[in-house]
Amino acid sequence: MAEKKLLRALKGEVMDVPPAWMMRQAGRYLPEYRATRAKAGDFLSLCYNPELAAEVTLQPIRRFAFDGAILFADILLVPQALGADLWFVTGEGPRLSPIDTEEKIDALKPVDAVHETLNPIYQTLRILSGELPDDVTLIGFAGAPWTVATYMVAGRGTPDQAPAHALKDGNRAAFDRLMDRITGATVEYLSQQIEAGAEVVKVFDSWAGSLKGQDFHQYALKPAQRIVSELKARHPEIPVIAFPREAGDGYIGFAKATGADCVAIDNSVDADWAAAHVQVDGCVQGNLAPHHMVKGGQDLVDEVRRIRAAFAKGPHIFNLGHGITPDADPDNVALMLETLRS
Ligand code: CP3
Repeated sequence: MAEKKLLRALKGEVMDVPPAWMMRQAGRYLPEYRATRAKAGDFLSLCYNPELAAEVTLQPIRRFAFDGAILFADILLVPQALGADLWFVTGEGPRLSPIDTEEKIDALKPVDAVHETLNPIYQTLRILSGELPDDVTLIGFAGAPWTVATYMVAGRGTPDQAPAHALKDGNRAAFDRLMDRITGATVEYLSQQIEAGAEVVKVFDSWAGSLKGQDFHQYALKPAQRIVSELKARHPEIPVIAFPREAGDGYIGFAKATGADCVAIDNSVDADWAAAHVQVDGCVQGNLAPHHMVKGGQDLVDEVRRIRAAFAKGPHIFNLGHGITPDADPDNVALMLETLRS
């Protein structure tokens, strides 16, 4: 069998029609997802149910023929596996028992204890390995340490990540131990995902954009570099996609500095700019604004064509700049792929 398109792009191949998948492609905009989610009960029960998690991972593949299938799970399972309480409030988002003092940081479980909690996730990947069509790439993922830390310290999502910044600036030694623990756990987690069948892994740093200057270097770039190098030491063949969302100029040189095979870019940067400054170093992923999946129409068609053309001279994986939203229309996803592939 010929090598999968998504893996070829990650090796640097330039293709006429780039491979495509979508962040949050398994989600509430799909009626079949909502039905399976209702059957599972709450969101976390779905994440920890390997049969149903595999089912929702496959739903968008059946419907749209994406080139990549991303494991259905969540970045906040790692803090839970390290000992934080985690629950989701419907309509609001995640809640955790805040890990905001030295005592609580030092009481977290050791990094190799995470598998005890995360074993069902590896089972989901084993099921998917057997069930995915031959041309679809299986993508594993984890949150980047800074983004995970922002939820752990605050105990919830925050608009400005202020609690994590306060701990970082107020007790740097303790914050560094927290980052170190999350980074180690992330390497363990991604490594087991690969053992279970993930062919690519992606590291989501959704709040990288709130780190400035030296902090960006210390808490976005360096952890990514450590994760990539430790994974490459264990699994040299497995590509890594880094997503330092809203990094702005920080995207420049990020792949080179971290050793990542691909940098995913959000939709706040222009595709032509990213082609000139980021794609010069290798594969990029992105960056259609998710609102086009709500609106559709000629704007969507024009944007897909513009982005494809902007990245046509280098390796590219077509994706959104952030996750698809629950109010998106599945017909617009079909239109996006039809436009891309015609
Ligand atoms: O992309 C995929 O389809 C794979 C699965 C996936 C989910 N979350 C499922 C999910 C992935 C890769 C994530 C990553 C994730 N989770 C991130 C990083 C990417 C990003 O969006 O910035 C973050 C920050 C989280 C934490 C998280 N999980 C939040 C803040 C929320 C609540 C917001 C929301 O959309 O409801 C979640 C819940 C969540 N994760 C849902 C899904 C499908 C919705 C839960 C539901 O079904 O009710």
